[in-house]
Amino acid sequence: MRDAAPQTIYLKDYTPFGYLIDSVALTFKLHPTQTRVLSKIAFRPNPDAPDRRFFLHGEDLNLISAKIDGKDVTTRDVDGGLEADAPDAPFVWEAEVEISPSTNTALEGLYMSNGMYCTQCEAEGFRKITYYPDRPDVMAPFHVRIEGQDPILLSNGNPGAKGDGFAEWSDPWKKPAYLFALVAGDLINHPGQFTTQSGKEIELNIWVRPGDEHKCAFGMQALKDSMKWDEDVYGREYDLDIFNIVAVDDFNMGAMENKGLNIFNSSAVLASPETSTDANFERIEAIIAHEYFHNWTGNRITCRDWFQLCLKEGLTVYRDHQFTADMRSGDVARIENVLALRARQFPEDQGPLSHPVRPEEFQEINNFYTATVYEKGAEVIGMLKTLVGDDAYAKALDLYFDRHDGDAATIEDWLKVFEDFTGRDLSQFKLWYSQSGTPKLSVTEDWDASTGTFTLTFTQSTAPTPGQDQKDPKVIPVAIGLLNPNGDEVQATDVFEMTQASQSYQVTGLAVRPIPSILRGFSAPVVLDHDIDNDRRAFLFAHDTDSFNRWEAGRDLARDSLLAMIRDGAEPNALYLDSLQRVIQDPSLEPAYKAYLLGQPGDSELARALSEMGETPDPDAIHAASKAFRKAKAQALAAHLPALYEAHLVKGPFLPDADGAGKRALANAALSLLTKLDAGSAAQTQFDRADNMTEQLAALGQLIETGTGEAALAAFYDQWQADRLVIDKWFALQVALATPDQAAGVTRKLTEHADFDMKNPNRFRATLGALAGNHAGFHHKSGAGYALLTDWLIQLDDLNPQTTARMCSAFQTWRAYDEDRQELIKTQLERILAKKDLSRDTSEMITRILG
Ligand code: PHE
Ligand code: ZN
Repeated sequence: MRDAAPQTIYLKDYTPFGYLIDSVALTFKLHPTQTRVLSKIAFRPNPDAPDRRFFLHGEDLNLISAKIDGKDVTTRDVDGGLEADAPDAPFVWEAEVEISPSTNTALEGLYMSNGMYCTQCEAEGFRKITYYPDRPDVMAPFHVRIEGQDPILLSNGNPGAKGDGFAEWSDPWKKPAYLFALVAGDLINHPGQFTTQSGKEIELNIWVRPGDEHKCAFGMQALKDSMKWDEDVYGREYDLDIFNIVAVDDFNMGAMENKGLNIFNSSAVLASPETSTDANFERIEAIIAHEYFHNWTGNRITCRDWFQLCLKEGLTVYRDHQFTADMRSGDVARIENVLALRARQFPEDQGPLSHPVRPEEFQEINNFYTATVYEKGAEVIGMLKTLVGDDAYAKALDLYFDRHDGDAATIEDWLKVFEDFTGRDLSQFKLWYSQSGTPKLSVTEDWDASTGTFTLTFTQSTAPTPGQDQKDPKVIPVAIGLLNPNGDEVQATDVFEMTQASQSYQVTGLAVRPIPSILRGFSAPVVLDHDIDNDRRAFLFAHDTDSFNRWEAGRDLARDSLLAMIRDGAEPNALYLDSLQRVIQDPSLEPAYKAYLLGQPGDSELARALSEMGETPDPDAIHAASKAFRKAKAQALAAHLPALYEAHLVKGPFLPDADGAGKRALANAALSLLTKLDAGSAAQTQFDRADNMTEQLAALGQLIETGTGEAALAAFYDQWQADRLVIDKWFALQVALATPDQAAGVTRKLTEHADFDMKNPNRFRATLGALAGNHAGFHHKSGAGYALLTDWLIQLDDLNPQTTARMCSAFQTWRAYDEDRQELIKTQLERILAKKDLSRDTSEMITRILG
């Protein structure tokens, strides 16, 4: 067996596998360095496949024996696996391989984390466990026997025989190998129970390491809420007797939807008020929902090939967004989703890594678990729902589940369901899946007083992206509302379906010229270019009846003021400060929403705004302007801040619900401004009396920012040194808030700390990932930030290519900066590329970033 050489795979080359599988039986004899995996697989020729080549994927496997129909068979090592001569008739393949989980630092396949065995098979990790057609369109029922001394032995499906040193599991639902999972260790369960809509009793468990039992209750409730929600909203019931979740400390991603046995990064499931912030609770609830929802959108209906990844991810992200909006505040959830899209997907789509929601080629599929596939993929579903309407969306989904249950499906299948149900032609809409880049939507206004006709003329364009010079007009649902100059709504939200490069929207018979509110609720993932003056923005900030656009108007005012400060040292915009001061007192607005009103675009967002306008961002100037703007806000709101802060301090026991979280978010936003005026005294008081992480961490951040955080940082470390998830925060916060001159030095020092462990992705991200997120620090003109990150990426690549490659995206915006910085970054990118035995993952990323 050889490792696969870098090679580009194309969507257009898809062919089905030559055989179907009727059953898979696996036996694991667990051992840290010599685990034996015995497989017995019943194959049968696939009548729909042109080619009968019997090829099985396999990587880093030591083959002990191979048999076909009980007889030893000669296998041939080929790129990425093996080949054998197989009959053109049903047959049974049996193999025994040896693998070494304890030396597997890539965290893909079977590996060990803190003494426990666990697996990660998506996308192509199963081939590191045994020889198999490791592709999502090959589906089979699995029977698993685990032999080992660990007290808890888990796999997918329903439990079977169990005894001293072994356990068996049967999964009746056929599944692709990427959904296989196994866990073995000394684990404790937090049990739960759920009765489905048809009255089936489901056993639930969250499995954790001893000591973490007290951090499971919230996750368990989130799981039950998710199960209920999917029944109520999508009519989807759970389909096994048991649902297990396991928390693992070393994990490359957030979590994984393995059938009946979800495996979670411990940061995505463990929660307690003392150790988790409100933001952590919200994220945990969303990820638990996301993985649970995959049971139908991903597992029961899976992907034909990895190019179709958005089929399960875009839809499942969309579903978890809906869930969060229902569980918490829909208005606030929309703002959060758009902020995340702009922070993570827009830079990707506007730089060298830009790719379609459904890519057409890749070298390493792990590099395509991106914000484009996930977040833009979810936006595309949202647009589809807007276009067909809520009712048709719900019925089309029923049809999708009916028609494709048990299938490995494609985006064509998905769209066909909507076409068949609604009679709509979706061929132009499909461009959202195939065309990369963020469209720019420009709009001009015209008013004809004689007829009372108001016209909005829209023009769409998308800049060329790698491999795509020409762009065609897309279908863009533009939600529009009209307001009267007195602030009343004259026209409620109406969806204008734009299909051409340039197109007008017209309303007649109006008494006065209206003020339009455009792209309400962020109805499409585009950059809106609407040249309006500050008075108009302030009007919308005060009156827009669409909560998203109201927030957006304030945000635009703040952004433009910041850009003027950056460009030519302008004063903070007084109109904005005055409007903010008024809006923040509006008693009808909920605290969580007000907390977002008090926010401002971050340094990276400002840098991107400048480069979108063809200007070169200066990280130091951006950093200075951001700071000055915050100070100006604090001064403008000075009279209100103490009351705003006091009124939203939540007394009594901590509840991680939306209401309490919203109040704490607003109190912390007020505290952050207060600190600009009182040099940290309120923050110190909050730090000293905090009994929950939300308040403690926010106060610590403020103290660090005022330069008075030394003692608090030391106390925080002493208090939490036994809790790895809290210590991740301790690492990340120091790096994130370090001054531009100190960021690289602070990060370097932390990498020398006894608690730094490069093998743990959470700790690595908390340290080096936080450096990449400290805009002015990372882009320091000395190049120290670039060099430090590069040093560590080069080291990590040998151990964990997947996490290394993902973190290379810190460099994706490099072409936006000045020549000196570009040169500094280029040197580092070339240094990575020159590394001996660079992984396929990292090599693909760096090559694409260099362009
Ligand atoms: N499929 C997982 C999810 O979206 C993400 C994941 C991908 C996890 C690859 C691990 C490895 O929930
Ligand atoms: Zn997912």
